[in-house]
Amino acid sequence: MKLKVSIPAFRGPYEVEIRYGALQWLPQYLPSLASRFAIITDDRIASLHGESLKQTLSTAGLRVDLFAFPNGENNKTRETKEKLENQLFEKGFGRDTCVIALGGGVVTDLVGFLAATYCRGVPLVIVPTSLMGMVDASIGGKTGVNVPFGKNMIGCLYQPNKTVIDPSLLKTLSKREFSSGTVEMIKHGLIADRDYFEFLEKSVKSLLALQPETVEKAISESIRIKKEIVEEDINDQGKRHLLNFGHTVGHALEKVSHFAFSHGEAVAIGILAESHLAMQMGLLKTMDFDRIQKILTKYELPLKMPKGFSIQTVFDALSADKKALKGKARFVLINGLGSPCTYEGTYCTTVDDAVVKSALQWMFDALR
Ligand SMILES: NC(=O)c1ccc[n+]([C@@H]2O[C@H](COP(=O)([O-])OP(=O)(O)OC[C@H]3O[C@@H](n4cnc5c(N)ncnc54)[C@H](O)[C@@H]3O)[C@@H](O)[C@H]2O)c1
Repeated sequence: MKLKVSIPAFRGPYEVEIRYGALQWLPQYLPSLASRFAIITDDRIASLHGESLKQTLSTAGLRVDLFAFPNGENNKTRETKEKLENQLFEKGFGRDTCVIALGGGVVTDLVGFLAATYCRGVPLVIVPTSLMGMVDASIGGKTGVNVPFGKNMIGCLYQPNKTVIDPSLLKTLSKREFSSGTVEMIKHGLIADRDYFEFLEKSVKSLLALQPETVEKAISESIRIKKEIVEEDINDQGKRHLLNFGHTVGHALEKVSHFAFSHGEAVAIGILAESHLAMQMGLLKTMDFDRIQKILTKYELPLKMPKGFSIQTVFDALSADKKALKGKARFVLINGLGSPCTYEGTYCTTVDDAVVKSALQWMFDALR
């Protein structure tokens, strides 16, 4: 299946291809992009999939090297990017380079940013390997790294030349990471498409069992939803804020817990806290809130708050969110499954501090 993402980047629209076994066809797209290829990945994926991809490309006669950095969110930093850039320069990679980002969201965010700035920008091909990468991080062109002041605070928008999704790579992904990726799919349903949410409700067993048809349908539906939102708001000024549902609280939790959660696990709790907020405000029915809690549990998300920090710490961290206005956090709210609230052309709003604190209190009390 091929989906065209029509984003008027300087290279024009690009294709997202979803196909089992897609990597064997990758060499045919590459020669037009550059004469040297740098596959950049993390150390876990390097041995699982990086070496074989390198072999596929070199067998096809392409000049290719493989670079790896230690896996994990803590390594999505300026320091890692700098080290990789130095390694590329030492190996003589110049402007005629195509960077292939092979990995989960940490790799594609960091390597996308590297591609955007290396020699003032070189072609980029994204090959996501985690579910999170396939349904979310590899679509839309957001790249970046974390800094001690917050997540993704340094980066840019940089669209790839192509994104190639081979769902068979998911076979080596841990159950925990797979569940983490389902959170963004559930989010897509909640902000845009009730039918898709209900499909995810019905497909728990087959999706967790990696049943190919279900996996392919779920990935392509999520990508469709994300791409339609991104195409309407490439520069993240309006509708794209919807994709941040659950992330205001989720990012704050990641920050204060020093990434004790995976990204998806933090966003799952964020979705619940922000849905609770909407319920308290009389926007979301209790019945719908219960369905949200149930689906996240069914997809085996731990939904447990780690100990060691207070409500006030999380509350303070909310104002660091990029949607914050004059130091006050803004939230994406839903008033039904697949139905986001809009506010005179914007998609997020400030909420009374007392209501926010009460939702955080619920989160601390109910998710123990
Ligand atoms: N740019 C965007 O629009 C966007 C959207 C959503 C998330 N993100 C970012 O993505 C990151 C989270 O992504 P993630 O959950 O993929 O994390 P990740 O990249 O850290 O991957 C999770 C773990 O799974 C391993 N892994 C990945 N694919 C594997 C495979 N096929 N087999 C075995 N192990 C595999 C990785 O080595 C890593 O240890 C966060 O930094 C988040 O901010 C970005």
